[in-house]
Amino acid sequence: MRAFYTSVLLCLLSVSGCAGVTSAGEAARFDPDQPTVLITGSNRGLGLEFARQYAALGWNVIATCRRPKAAAELQMLAAQFDRVAIEELDVTLDRDVQRVAEAYAGQPVDVLLNNAGIYGNLEKQTLGSFDYEELKRVLDVNTIGSLRMSEAFLGNVQAGRQKKIVSLGGGMGTPTIGSMFGGHYFMKMSKAAHISAMGTLQKDLEDTGIIVTMISPGRVDTQMLKDSGYTGKSISAEESATLVIEMIAKLKPEMGGRVILYNGRTIPW
Ligand SMILES: NC(=O)c1ccc[n+]([C@@H]2O[C@H](COP(=O)([O-])OP(=O)(O)OC[C@H]3O[C@@H](n4cnc5c(N)ncnc54)[C@H](OP(=O)(O)O)[C@@H]3O)[C@@H](O)[C@H]2O)c1
Repeated sequence: MRAFYTSVLLCLLSVSGCAGVTSAGEAARFDPDQPTVLITGSNRGLGLEFARQYAALGWNVIATCRRPKAAAELQMLAAQFDRVAIEELDVTLDRDVQRVAEAYAGQPVDVLLNNAGIYGNLEKQTLGSFDYEELKRVLDVNTIGSLRMSEAFLGNVQAGRQKKIVSLGGGMGTPTIGSMFGGHYFMKMSKAAHISAMGTLQKDLEDTGIIVTMISPGRVDTQMLKDSGYTGKSISAEESATLVIEMIAKLKPEMGGRVILYNGRTIPW
């Protein structure tokens, strides 16, 4: 019965916006023979690197970010590659997500990359100085934002050939890694809830061929790592994105609903 509801839902999602709609992707001269990736938070850090590398691989790239006008490096990428379309999208805003989902209705998406994320202020997530408004902000972006994106673009992913929904990170949300050190509550909580949401989504979609997974990109030298207070060894965004993209290409159905490292090792719950 659940499979029936899922297939009806996916039909409705894909039919609702197909014929007659000029997608923003067409405006960016997407090649229908090439796969398509949709990335959140693609103005900097890992998101920008994913956009660059997928564009260089010949993919159609729907590169979303909160402030396209301020995204100089992304604008340069779009000027270089016809198949990069930039869309304004804040993952915490229903109206943004719906607007972009409507613009791309009928556009197959092979990989939905839930990359946008925030660490949250460290002091505000330290015992003795908790700020629950900050907790809500972190959950809003990291957990709710990714679920909102996954639901809104489900029909697009179902229409894609590769059918993958990938969220970045998750290691800190597992007891295996999260319990190795104290503090950092909000980040850990947001990723734990994210893992739960993605695992449940995978269960709901098990008869659709869609793979839902979380990939931990390692410790990557981006603004987020600075926000975490970590000062040890890290890898570059370029190196990490290459490994994650290779991992995405190798994803298998049995990896669905799990948190895996960029090298393919499963992080135990
Ligand atoms: N760096 C690491 O070591 C590491 C480790 C594990 C997991 N990750 C994961 O990797 C992902 C990317 O992080 P990063 O390291 O590249 O960090 P980053 O450089 O800080 O980039 C974060 C991105 O998320 C965007 N963002 C924040 N709030 C948003 C919102 N409400 N709507 C849309 N976009 C929003 C930011 O856009 P603005 O410029 O507009 O703020 C930025 O593009 C995150 O999900 C993170 O949890 C990173």
